[in-house]
Amino acid sequence: MAAAHARNIHVVLDNTWSAGILLDAFAHGVDITMQAVTKYIGGHSDLLLGSVTVRDDALYDRLGSTQQNVGFAVSPDDCSLALRGLQTLAVRLSYIETSAFDVASWLAARPEVETVLHPALPSCPGHEFWKRDFQGSSGVFSVVFKPGPSQQQIYAFVDALHLFKVGYSWAGVTSLAVAYDIGKIPGRPPYEHRIVRFNIGLESTSDLTADLDQANCDGNGWNPFKNSPTCCWITWTASSTTAAPKYASEWWKPSTATSKPSLEGAAATRISAICCSKAQRMVVTKTEFIVLQKAA
Ligand SMILES: Cc1ncc(COP(=O)(O)O)c(C=O)c1O
Repeated sequence: MAAAHARNIHVVLDNTWSAGILLDAFAHGVDITMQAVTKYIGGHSDLLLGSVTVRDDALYDRLGSTQQNVGFAVSPDDCSLALRGLQTLAVRLSYIETSAFDVASWLAARPEVETVLHPALPSCPGHEFWKRDFQGSSGVFSVVFKPGPSQQQIYAFVDALHLFKVGYSWAGVTSLAVAYDIGKIPGRPPYEHRIVRFNIGLESTSDLTADLDQANCDGNGWNPFKNSPTCCWITWTASSTTAAPKYASEWWKPSTATSKPSLEGAAATRISAICCSKAQRMVVTKTEFIVLQKAA
């Protein structure tokens, strides 16, 4: 902060994780703080809005006039949803903080888990900074599973969750889980595909841990595809062979290999839409080929 200010550089912070409440950005010397109002302030996944808050009038004059010149505007309906969200923000955040910490602690005690990246846990890298700067924690954290499960098994785990839905835009009432493959980043721990990010919503904490329990294994190790539907809904492009449509709309089970599909009568067919398991849907691109076996 001091180094930036000494060089006349403004410090800008995305303070969305703290909902603008759990970290006092201006007290820490930040000049411009931003919020995805979509998230904790909106709180119900039905609003797209952001805010930019500045330290002083000089910055306001500069940013405010730019905002007006480029014509950014928000609707009265969106503003009213944000105002409504503010009325319940404190109670939602308080429940979420406790519930998320309890779920994170439950996960940290599981035999399949290497570490839980929740900053309020002393084992989390950077915990000391969270303790120094924040007044609390919110509902987004990640779990890193011990080496062993394949990416397919991690997807199967996410698929098998009932209460946790798959989604990126967190901080609504519904808990979310998203599997990540961060690959190998030099200087970073080799977590690769073993990370799942959670958003904790307003469900009962014990229901959430019960859901995690039934979705993974039973403490006895990973069980590939134990619970997952792992089915694909397939459609073909117009250039498909004439034989192909007879396979359309059937359910297929993907194998792990990736190459052209070897479907009888559908050689060289381009698959135009693959909706595999809900987790896989997020990584399989429109024109990708996978080897498919017809589901039993
Ligand atoms: C920390 C953070 N800030 C901002 C955003 C942007 O949110 P939105 O696209 O909902 O406005 C996200 C989205 O995930 C986020 O994680």
